[in-house]
Amino acid sequence: MKRRNKVLVTRRLPDPGMDLLARHFCLTTGPADSPMSNKDIIREIRDCEGLLCLLTDNIDAEIVRAGKKLKVIANYAVGYNNIDVTEATKFKIPVTNTPGVLTETTADLTFALLLSIARRIVEADKFSRQGKFIGWSPMLLLGHDVHEKNLGIIGLGRIGRAVARRAKGFGMRVFYYDLSRISDDEEKTLGVEYHTLDDLLKKSDFICIHVSLNEQTRHMIAKEKLALMKPSAYLINVARGPIIDEQALAQALYEKRIAGCALDVYEHEPAINKKLLSMDNTVLVPHIGSASIETRTNMAIIAVKNIISILVDQTKAPNTVNPEVYE
Ligand code: DGY
Repeated sequence: MKRRNKVLVTRRLPDPGMDLLARHFCLTTGPADSPMSNKDIIREIRDCEGLLCLLTDNIDAEIVRAGKKLKVIANYAVGYNNIDVTEATKFKIPVTNTPGVLTETTADLTFALLLSIARRIVEADKFSRQGKFIGWSPMLLLGHDVHEKNLGIIGLGRIGRAVARRAKGFGMRVFYYDLSRISDDEEKTLGVEYHTLDDLLKKSDFICIHVSLNEQTRHMIAKEKLALMKPSAYLINVARGPIIDEQALAQALYEKRIAGCALDVYEHEPAINKKLLSMDNTVLVPHIGSASIETRTNMAIIAVKNIISILVDQTKAPNTVNPEVYE
C-alpha cells in the first residue's frame, strides 16, 4: 500500500480542518494548549511532506532546511511574516496563506475597537462592574463621536476596503494611503480619498493600520509620524505589532499627544508594553482579529486545501505567496 504523506500540524485547529487533514494524511499534532518549540518542530519535520503552522511559529531557515522532504508550508493566517519565505523559495517549497475568508471578520474587529476606544466602552464596563454607577450624570464617561468624523486607512487592501465600506455606514469621510493609488472610478465607488501618509495622519480623527509587515513597514508609525497626529486622534492596529514603534506610542499617549489607541497586535507579542497596560485610554485585545468560529473554521479548511492541492492533487496551491517556486 502507498505510504500516506505526513503532515505536521503545530497546534490543534478547529475540527472540520483536523477531520479533513486526517482523511488524507498521517498527522503529527503539536500540544493542544501551548505552542510547539522550534526544537520540537525540527525533530518532527524531518519526516514530513507538509507543515501546517500558525502565525506564532517562527518558521526560520533552520526549520526549512531540516524539512528535507517538505513540499508545502501552509500558514494558518493571511499574514506570513513568521515564515522565512526566501529560504523556502530556495528549496522550491510553496508557502501558502488564508486570504479572503478573514477580511470581513477582521474589519468587524477594527470597527469594534474604533467604537470601543472612542466611546470608552471598556472603561464604562469596568466602571459598572465595580459598582460605581450610581445614576446618570451629564459628564459621566464622555467619549467622542465616530459618525461624520475623518477615518484614515493605511493600506487599502482587502481588509482596508472592508473597513472603508463600514465607515460609509457611519457617514465618515474616508482617507487612504497606500503604495499605489486605486483608479478614480474605484475611489468614487468606495468613497475614499487618497492622501500622502503625512497628510492622512494630520487630518484623520481615527487612523487604522491594514498593511502587512515587511522591512518597509516595520516602525512605519514611529515618533515623527505620531507627532503629526491630532491630539484628539485615535490609532487602531489590527495588522502586525511591529508596524508601530510601541515605546514611541506609549510615550505619545503618556504625554497626551494623541487621544488613545486600540490594539489587537503588539510589537513583542504576546508581551504587551507595561505603560500601555497601565493607561485608561487604550483598548488592548489579544490578537483576535479573525477569531470568530466561522472564520477560524474557514481558515482551517483553506489551509488544509492548500496542502491537499500540493500533496494529493499535485497541482499549484491556490493561495501560494511565492508562486515563483512553480516556474
Ligand atoms: C492573520 O491571519 O494574519 C491574522 O492576524 C490572524 O488573526
